[in-house]
Amino acid sequence: MSEPLVVVNCKTYAAASGLASNDLMAALASVDSDGVRLVLAVSAFDLHALASAHPHLEFWSQHLDPVGQGSFTGWLEPETAMERGATGTLINHAEHKVEMDHVKRLLHQLDGRINVCACAADEAEARSLAALAPTMIAVEPPELIGGDVSVTSADPGIVRDTVALVKGIDAGIMVLCGAGVKTGEDVSAALRLGAEGVLLASGVTKATDPAAVLQDLVDGARRA
Ligand code: G3P
Repeated sequence: MSEPLVVVNCKTYAAASGLASNDLMAALASVDSDGVRLVLAVSAFDLHALASAHPHLEFWSQHLDPVGQGSFTGWLEPETAMERGATGTLINHAEHKVEMDHVKRLLHQLDGRINVCACAADEAEARSLAALAPTMIAVEPPELIGGDVSVTSADPGIVRDTVALVKGIDAGIMVLCGAGVKTGEDVSAALRLGAEGVLLASGVTKATDPAAVLQDLVDGARRA
């Protein structure tokens, strides 16, 4: 079995964006993540600086658009993201929804060169996304995002059922869960429910001591 995955989505949190992201990444880089795959989904503005400063960490984009290099003002173009250090991307996050066709065209354009973690609000959306064969699907009930109750406590069934559903369609797709995940125990619970990792944000980005929180999350993944 592959290493459990802990993906920290920096969103546009002040403490995780711009110049502040340098300090945050320096703190997170001090975490002992041996045996756990740690990923940071960062702002496109910060990607290059962070990937250059921390070559041993894995950085993803928070979104990409299926456009080429040319007349596409303001879009997040994949080739440049990869050149600047992105080894993956989120897509269809609850805070940045796209049409299924967007996901389909992006997957076609990337052709397996980087990881694509497609987010699903529920099982129905996970089913549609699984048919497109992204690298991973992260199930995140929107109403629990940013809250203090982990999806693994509030709705363990959606995690278990999404894992079964996705694996039934394509066993090669990894399944993550997220929303409200804040502690090592939440991560352990996610893995016990069959998820292969977690996607989280505020637990780390709003923490007084982000490195300590991340260490707890990583330790939870190891314990499971
Ligand atoms: O992308 C992660 C996310 O939407 C969950 O956010 O703050 O509930 O961990 P949070």
